[in-house]
Amino acid sequence: MATHLFEDRIHAAFYQKYRFTPQENLQRAIFSYLEKKVNSFRLAVDVGCGSGQSTLFLAKHFEKVVGMDISAAQIEEAKRAPHPPNVSYAVSPAEDLPFEAGSVDLITAFASVHWFDTPRFLSEVDRVLKPSGCVVFSSYNQDMRVCYRDLTEKLTQIFTENRDQLFNYADEKVKGVLNDYQEVFDALPYADKERLTDIVDKVPMSIADLMGYIQSLSMYQAFQKAQPEAAKALLQNTERRFLETMSVSSRKTQVELEMRHVCILGCKMS
Ligand SMILES: C[S@@+](CC[C@H](N)C(=O)[O-])C[C@H]1O[C@@H](n2cnc3c(N)ncnc32)[C@H](O)[C@@H]1O
Repeated sequence: MATHLFEDRIHAAFYQKYRFTPQENLQRAIFSYLEKKVNSFRLAVDVGCGSGQSTLFLAKHFEKVVGMDISAAQIEEAKRAPHPPNVSYAVSPAEDLPFEAGSVDLITAFASVHWFDTPRFLSEVDRVLKPSGCVVFSSYNQDMRVCYRDLTEKLTQIFTENRDQLFNYADEKVKGVLNDYQEVFDALPYADKERLTDIVDKVPMSIADLMGYIQSLSMYQAFQKAQPEAAKALLQNTERRFLETMSVSSRKTQVELEMRHVCILGCKMS
């Protein structure tokens, strides 16, 4: 059954503002694979594109890029944000893509493949990909580190405690990311495939942005729906602890969020 956790317009707006585009080291790993495998760079489709943060970086490399998401609110945000003329967006479930058989060079899914019905999605991927078309399924894991001077361990501990509380409200599908997409990797029916689990990137952001990222998590949104006051208190307490630990008062204080990605790369080859 399709997941409808991201339909809310406020949630979509948090996405647009606080989710990150695939970072440098992840992009490097992806393109060093694609340059060896893909025959043509005509059409890339980013499935579960959210408000487009994972779609735009493909525009420099492909003639045409289409971002697709089941949530109309996310697609509205994506269309509203600036994007080059070779990028378009449409509402579509991952399991039923509006492309002809053998017409797509690349299918990507960033922080989204765990939400899909895996067998139906992979069979749809196989239908629409050209021979030698490729897939990239990637996500950052939640074992992130908050880096700041010599306080990284203390700040990471606060972040981890916050995340552990939010995990009580995590959908089972989010927990699928924790095993680094092992099940999706096993189900991908291509001989030519690899799963990278050691790509690390650092994203500079303010404490305010970090709190925005936390609020964009589906598990925070679920907590907020169930217990609005407790969710607000957790957020306020987490921010207060960050600032006190850093001995600063400004939410604009910059930290770096270090994240580890899992990335499945595969090629159809026939
Ligand atoms: C965590 S967000 C990832 C968004 C973006 N790709 C990113 O990197 O931030 C997951 C997205 O998958 C979408 N989604 C969930 N189930 C879907 C499905 N069955 N078909 C298409 N999109 C789906 C959600 O609406 C949501 O926008």
